[in-house]
Amino acid sequence: MPDPDHAPHHASGNAAQADFWTSGPGVKWAALHETLDGLFTQVTAELLARARPRPGEVALDIGCGAGDTTLAAADRAGAEGHVEGLDISATLLAVARRRAGGRPDVRFTLADAQTHPFPADGADLVLSRFGMMFFSDPAMALGNLRRALKPGGRIVFVAWADVARNPWNREAKAAGVARLGAVPPDVPREPGQFAFAEIDYVTGLLAGAGFAAVAAEECDTRLRVAGRAAEAAALATEIGPVSRLIREKGGTDADRAAIAADLASRFRRFETAERVEVPAVVNVFAAVRP
Ligand SMILES: C[S@@+](CC[C@H](N)C(=O)[O-])C[C@H]1O[C@@H](n2cnc3c(N)ncnc32)[C@H](O)[C@@H]1O
Repeated sequence: MPDPDHAPHHASGNAAQADFWTSGPGVKWAALHETLDGLFTQVTAELLARARPRPGEVALDIGCGAGDTTLAAADRAGAEGHVEGLDISATLLAVARRRAGGRPDVRFTLADAQTHPFPADGADLVLSRFGMMFFSDPAMALGNLRRALKPGGRIVFVAWADVARNPWNREAKAAGVARLGAVPPDVPREPGQFAFAEIDYVTGLLAGAGFAAVAAEECDTRLRVAGRAAEAAALATEIGPVSRLIREKGGTDADRAAIAADLASRFRRFETAERVEVPAVVNVFAAVRP
């Protein structure tokens, strides 16, 4: 019997993502999960408003991380429903399982969603908050997820729109580059945070994978941080492009502090009376298995 906590990712080309989300960055995401769930409060609401898990439904949460959206979907699916969170990171799933506290309507599975042998025709709904942009072969992954759905089942997921329209990342990267120097530009569509920024590319993938009623919309939303600009800047330097830049350039703690200070001044314009609210644009994709 295979060890469920050592799923094979190597055959799929997703081994590097498994390492990334299990070690350094994944450990940070696990430690910061409450703050990140707070950051994405409005994104989660946008996702759930469109995915609409219904009482009694079976749902799959892809790249579920620490399980925030899995648990939220399960609350809507009710005791008669069931939600399975799938992730490639044992580190994040450990947090998710702890949060679920053994509730019977939720299960977490360590698996590569691109190749996982889902029971065919099993799910009413596949949903994901930022968990779909990391596949080495997105066409294969979407085909696999289509087979996991019942006929008439739906897939709904959010992914980041272009970095230029997302100051959380754009300004963080600018502050990092100002301190440590330029990095090569990201390769469009390469697995990573902005891989699904091009709407036509992703709707084409969905249609190519056999989905019908393919729809996409750009959604204006906000990222929320409790506290002031300094707290938002500290968070944005812990994860995302700055931590990557610091890793790649061999940056020091002093560099991180200087970047955070620069970023705090850039984020000050997003301070409200209660918190920091950074405008953001995400792409919401939806489709149906015919
Ligand atoms: C940006 S995080 C989002 C996590 C979570 N959905 C959230 O919003 O907090 C991306 C997640 O996708 C997972 N992931 C990446 N590639 C995956 C794959 N091939 N199969 C399953 N999960 C994957 C990562 O481990 C990580 O937890």
